[in-house]
Amino acid sequence: MDLNFNRRLSIAPMLDYTDRHERFFLRLLSKHILLYTEMVTTHALIHAGAERFLRHDPFEHPVALQLAGNNPKMLAECSRMGEDAGFVEINLNCGCPSDRVQSGAFGACLMKDKNLVAECISSMREAVSIPVSIKTRIGVDQQDTWEFFHDFVKTIAETGCDVFIIHARKAWLKGLSPKENRTKPPLMYDFVYRLKDEFPHLNISLNGGVQSLNAVEECLKKVDGVMVGREAYENPWFLAEADERIFNGKASAIASRRALLEAFLPYMEKQLKEGCPLTIMTRHLFGLFNGIPGARRYRQILSEEASAKGAGIETVLRAMDAVS
Ligand SMILES: Cc1cc2nc3c(=O)[nH]c(=O)nc-3n(C[C@H](O)[C@H](O)[C@H](O)COP(=O)(O)O)c2cc1C
Repeated sequence: MDLNFNRRLSIAPMLDYTDRHERFFLRLLSKHILLYTEMVTTHALIHAGAERFLRHDPFEHPVALQLAGNNPKMLAECSRMGEDAGFVEINLNCGCPSDRVQSGAFGACLMKDKNLVAECISSMREAVSIPVSIKTRIGVDQQDTWEFFHDFVKTIAETGCDVFIIHARKAWLKGLSPKENRTKPPLMYDFVYRLKDEFPHLNISLNGGVQSLNAVEECLKKVDGVMVGREAYENPWFLAEADERIFNGKASAIASRRALLEAFLPYMEKQLKEGCPLTIMTRHLFGLFNGIPGARRYRQILSEEASAKGAGIETVLRAMDAVS
C-alpha cells in the first residue's frame, strides 16, 4: 500500500454517508484528499465479518479506517484487519456523542478516561505498521477547559501517536442529540491553533464548519490539515479544485459536474450488475447540482424514480438531462 499520502485535506468519517460508493465518487474529484470510512465498531467488525465492513475498491485510496471501541485487545485485532485489508491509517473515534456509542462507552465519552484511550492507542500502534490517529473533540460536558484538553492530548501523544484530528467543539453527552452536538456547542478554532503552537511536532487537523477551499487555505496557515464533513457530502463540487489549490497537484481532469456524473456511470453500472440497488449509490448524488437551474427536478427524479424496481442507469441519465 502507498503510504505516501498527505493530510492537508481529508473528508470526515460519516456514518451512513462515507460508504464505499461515496468514497469512489469523491475520489473521481480529487486524487489526493484523504478519505475516511464510516465508523466501524470493533464488535461489529469482529463478530459480523470483515467483508461487509472493510470492502472497498483500490481506486478509493488513500482511505483511512475509523474504529470505535474501548477494548485495547479488540482495537488491536481490528487495526490488524484494517491494515491487512489495505487501509493507509487506522483512526480511533473519540468524538462521537450518540447514545448508542455512549452505551458502549466509546466515542466522545472516552475523553473522560485519557489513560484508557492511551492504552487503546498503544495497543493499536503495536499491532500495525501504518499510522494510528485519533479524532477527538476539544472537551466533553463540564470538562472543557484548555488544561483538560491539553492534558488529554499530551497523554495520548506520549504513546507516540502523532496524528490528531480535532473537531473544534466540545460534546454534550446528555441533553443534545448527535445532530445538535454538531451545531450547538460553539466552534473554538483557537483551541486547535493553540494546540499546534504548543505541540509543533504533532500533525494536527482542524475539523468543524469548514465550507470552502478558501476556508481550508486559511486554516492551513495555522495547522497541518483540515477535515471537511457535511459540506463535502452536501456540495461535493466545491472539491473540484482541491488537487490544484490544496495539494499543488495537477488540476482534476473532471471539468464539470456533468462530467463527474458521467465518470461515475461505469462504476454504477458495474455495481448494479453485482446486485447493488441503484438508490444506495444515487442517494450520494443529490447535492451535486446544488444551485444550478434544474437541480430540484434532478433531485426529484433521483429520489422518486431510482427506487423503482429494476431502475437503472437510464434514471440517472434522465435526472442529468433535467439540469442545464
Ligand atoms: C451524518 C454524519 C455522520 C457522522 N458520523 C461520524 C462517524 O462515524 N465518526 C466520526 O468520528 N464522526 C462522525 N461525524 C462527525 C463528522 O466526522 C465531523 O466531525 C462533523 O460533521 C463536523 O465536521 P463538519 O462541520 O465539516 O461537518 C458524523 C457527522 C455526520 C453529519
